[in-house]
Amino acid sequence: MQRILSGIQPTNKLHLGNYLGAIKNWVNLQNQFECFFFIVDLHAITVKQDPKILRENTLDVIKTYIALGVNPKKSIIFVQSDIKEHAELAWILNTITKISELERMTQFKDKSRQHAENINVGLFAYPVLMAADILLYNTNLVPVGEDQTQHLELSRLLANRFNQLFGDTFIIPEPFIGKQGARVMGLDDPTKKMSKGASSPNNYIALLDDPDVARKKIMKAVTDSGSEIKAADNKPALANLLTIYSLLADKTIKEIEKEYAGRGYADFKKGLAETTVKFLADFQKKFNSIGDAEAKKILKSGAEKARSVAFKKMKEIKEKIGLGF
Ligand code: TYM
Repeated sequence: MQRILSGIQPTNKLHLGNYLGAIKNWVNLQNQFECFFFIVDLHAITVKQDPKILRENTLDVIKTYIALGVNPKKSIIFVQSDIKEHAELAWILNTITKISELERMTQFKDKSRQHAENINVGLFAYPVLMAADILLYNTNLVPVGEDQTQHLELSRLLANRFNQLFGDTFIIPEPFIGKQGARVMGLDDPTKKMSKGASSPNNYIALLDDPDVARKKIMKAVTDSGSEIKAADNKPALANLLTIYSLLADKTIKEIEKEYAGRGYADFKKGLAETTVKFLADFQKKFNSIGDAEAKKILKSGAEKARSVAFKKMKEIKEKIGLGF
């Protein structure tokens, strides 16, 4: 059976982009593949974190996975820092990564601008740790949003390089990018992706936003000129709202266009707001029903399963490169 792996950072609150670009696909994939879904807390500490809030966010992300349909009976759910082999392999991969390859990474450039006071070595080597995450589990497919494509490319490059240097060791992972929702844009600016780090909360709908707040954000979302509800290349804001609507309501864009033929933006936004509010209310009900103890239990059992895979792979890697006895 082919293996899937993906993860999310426990920073701030997850938003509709994380759901539609990543987690929604995970939920479908877990029926056909062996899946590993984890929380990348070692990646999160590349920017300053409050220890107490980091822990809370980590548990919130687990609860979010489960409330959105990731099933701990089917998928292995764990926290990155519980498996020491991630950091161990990252170190090894650092030694075959060129500085110039990391300097090219657009996320590093963006984050260096956002956190100019703390451009640390971890932030620079972030994509190497991500490659370690993926390669450690013999991953075939990595379901992510479009913004992770460049990091995935680096993982493939490092896997190939290692295999050439030390013999066949790593599977070359493929990205799995959904046809729709791979790049959900900001509600306040359809030229920028929806992002946890956005300066205005009107950029995103957080999964834990109060439904009334979410409704207001949608009614405020920027739109394009014209009044027809029809997707077009020169209407990026409408295209984004249609994509969100389509994925949340499980309707095609054509069906939604037909529903709103002859009606204006106000009606369309009201419809989208209702769909979103219902989605958030259902999600939050499930989220709130999951206790900390239940989440921790899932993590403990997930870590045990992940650890045995990681341990075996690490042994193979160390043998290949002449480390230890
Ligand atoms: P992170 O935490 O920034 O994002 C988590 C997932 O959400 C997707 N995503 C989006 N998709 C569509 N539209 C958006 N606006 C949007 N914003 C975020 C991301 O593409 C991602 O799939 N480096 C990764 C975490 C990571 C990882 C891994 C992923 C670490 N190791 C190994 C896969 C495999 C990250 O920062 O994602």
